Amino acid sequence: MKGVILHGGSGTRLRPLTYTDVKQLLPLAGKPVSEYALLNLIEIGITKINIIVGEVGQKEVIDYYGDGSNWGVEISYTHQGKPLGIAHAIGLTEDFIGEDSFVVILGDNYFQGGLSELKENFEDSGNDCLIALTKVKNPSQFGIAEVDKGRIVSLVEKPKEPKSDLAITGAYFLTPKIFPIIENLKPSWRNELEITEAFQVMLERGMKIGYSLISGWWKDTGTVDEFLDCNRMVLDKIQLGESNQNPTPDGMLTGRVKMGKNVTINGQSRILGPCYIGDDTVITDTYVGPFTSIGSRCSIKNVEIEDSIVMDGSSIELNNGTRISRSLIGSNVSMKPSTSKTRTIRLVVGRDSKIEL
Ligand code: TTP
Repeated sequence: MKGVILHGGSGTRLRPLTYTDVKQLLPLAGKPVSEYALLNLIEIGITKINIIVGEVGQKEVIDYYGDGSNWGVEISYTHQGKPLGIAHAIGLTEDFIGEDSFVVILGDNYFQGGLSELKENFEDSGNDCLIALTKVKNPSQFGIAEVDKGRIVSLVEKPKEPKSDLAITGAYFLTPKIFPIIENLKPSWRNELEITEAFQVMLERGMKIGYSLISGWWKDTGTVDEFLDCNRMVLDKIQLGESNQNPTPDGMLTGRVKMGKNVTINGQSRILGPCYIGDDTVITDTYVGPFTSIGSRCSIKNVEIEDSIVMDGSSIELNNGTRISRSLIGSNVSMKPSTSKTRTIRLVVGRDSKIEL
């Protein structure tokens, strides 16, 4: 079996970060979200993996994953360019897949419980496809599967009257039978080749689509809130004392705090886990509250921050007692106190930025 990770798309819901950064490389506890997908594939014994890259940040993706040898697997790349749909992206992997079965993971989806049970179910069933499903409370906001006798019988995107509460997640086990179907798909109203449409055609042609309910939680990290929620879930898995390589004065750290190398915490700082602090970051006179991920090479001074992500190389200094919460702060951002004697603030903020003062 081979593996495919989708790393394209437009990421409009995560702007402005996605103007410059690939959303699947955005960090959760110091690791790109798509690295967790890679680890899911490795865990089920897949060693040949193709990553589909899109228009933004191809170089960064290839620089990060390289030929896969850092993870002991072979990684190759396919260029999708414009985001013409998930089915379009899968269609581009036909030569890479050859005669093998394969699993596709959307690179911005997080599967806490892994995919081993799904792989076994797919291989035992002899079905043409297996889709990972999960129960949701608000089915009209998801692609929903209607099931009967262990198989999927229909799929509806955001149904007004849902026939089940089983949502389609971003992991599909497939065979090469899908390729001729994708070739004949027509673009939808949003000019994409839709994967649900490909599945629907499979059903119409009498092909069998099985399903498995995923174990553990699943998250699509496509929006700021979903990304922060996923960060909470990943940080909540940190174990007490995990990788704390830094001597820290008593009382500064409480709870589960994972740290990289060479972190400096001084002054009146307090760090309350679960949280993550990356390599070479300096924390001064700061309160870092639960569910916060701070990247590498950051400088955080005089700040109260909780339930947030700060990416690599950012420097944040505040001195007005404001607490930063539920925030997603990109890389190399600079925030510092105003030197103005009047109550003035100065902003250099890019398109689609969101600020609540
Ligand atoms: P989506 O999150 O549905 O779409 P998007 O990435 O364009 O984001 P937005 O809706 O915010 O504009 O995509 C699901 C996954 O599939 C995601 O990991 C990106 C990937 N993808 C591709 O690789 N190629 C594509 O053409 C599309 C549409 C998505």
